[in-house]
Amino acid sequence: MKIIGTGLSGLVGSRIVELNPGIEFVEISLEKGIDLLDLSSLEQVFINNPDAPAVLHLAAFTDTNVAWSQNQDKSGSCYQVNVVGTQNIVDLCKKYDKYLIHISTDFVFDGTKDGKYTEEDSPNPIEWYGETKYFAEKVILDSGIKSSILRITFPYRSNHDSKKDIVRKIIDGFKAGKLYPQWTDHFTTPTFIDDIASAVKYFIEHQPSGIFHLAGSSSQSPYEMCLLIADVFGFDRNIVVQSTLADYVKSLPEGSRPWQHNLSMDNTKITSLGIKMKTLREGLEEMKKQLEL
Ligand SMILES: NC(=O)c1ccc[n+]([C@@H]2O[C@H](COP(=O)([O-])OP(=O)(O)OC[C@H]3O[C@@H](n4cnc5c(N)ncnc54)[C@H](OP(=O)(O)O)[C@@H]3O)[C@@H](O)[C@H]2O)c1
Repeated sequence: MKIIGTGLSGLVGSRIVELNPGIEFVEISLEKGIDLLDLSSLEQVFINNPDAPAVLHLAAFTDTNVAWSQNQDKSGSCYQVNVVGTQNIVDLCKKYDKYLIHISTDFVFDGTKDGKYTEEDSPNPIEWYGETKYFAEKVILDSGIKSSILRITFPYRSNHDSKKDIVRKIIDGFKAGKLYPQWTDHFTTPTFIDDIASAVKYFIEHQPSGIFHLAGSSSQSPYEMCLLIADVFGFDRNIVVQSTLADYVKSLPEGSRPWQHNLSMDNTKITSLGIKMKTLREGLEEMKKQLEL
């Protein structure tokens, strides 16, 4: 099976490639000399690979703080890569009749819900990265192409030197004895990237359509996350100090990036396809095994 892929060098994409050796990925990346924004070199990939039935689109501008410094700037790299780049991919999928698997984010939500976000909830992004990712979702839905939008959330894995995820940042904090005070009033749904890799294989093979929350099976605050990490990896849980996002936000200068308070995600829809998504504890235990190998 051959698949055209973008963002395959990144935190998430590189693990999808690693765990799916049976899939031949045709890589679109800056490193390979193909910019998402350069339509003609992008099209050449589609022309050269008529036997690839699907496109896996992960490439994005992912630095949320830099994105905020470009807020509402449609000529900025965040909008250009996330929206114009996605439009280019969508146009080519339409022209060459490819199924698109698009990777999106929980940051399309405003974080004010009391409970877990389902696929039925309306997005309402509050910062620029999330807004551009939501624009990208709309580009796909408006195009009418056969597609799935997989919203992933706080992805983590055992290793990836060039970008630290939330779990490895906390582990580094424990190891260095420099753990920041941890919020008790902020909730996220970390997702083990190995589960994302298995789910993507399912989507490549079965081509379901629609929006899916490809999220882990437990949501917790960063404070609770630290306690779990301490328990699984044998760190001292007494060094974890509580703080709140509410206080942090109050301390920020005016015009700072807004924060979503609750990004708890419901994964019932994706798990009903038979796709298993780990809880944070299960993911950490698997990580520990992988790191001991
Ligand atoms: N990480 C998270 O916390 C998180 C959470 C939710 C959703 N997501 C979504 O998951 C996806 C993957 O995220 P990630 O964290 O794995 O990304 P990442 O590590 O930041 O990597 C970004 C990828 O995008 C590619 N890219 C950027 N600009 C490009 C351009 N102009 N042309 C071609 N390729 C370009 C990069 O390729 P080069 O190496 O060639 O530059 C790289 O492979 C993204 O769609 C992101 O929005 C991520």
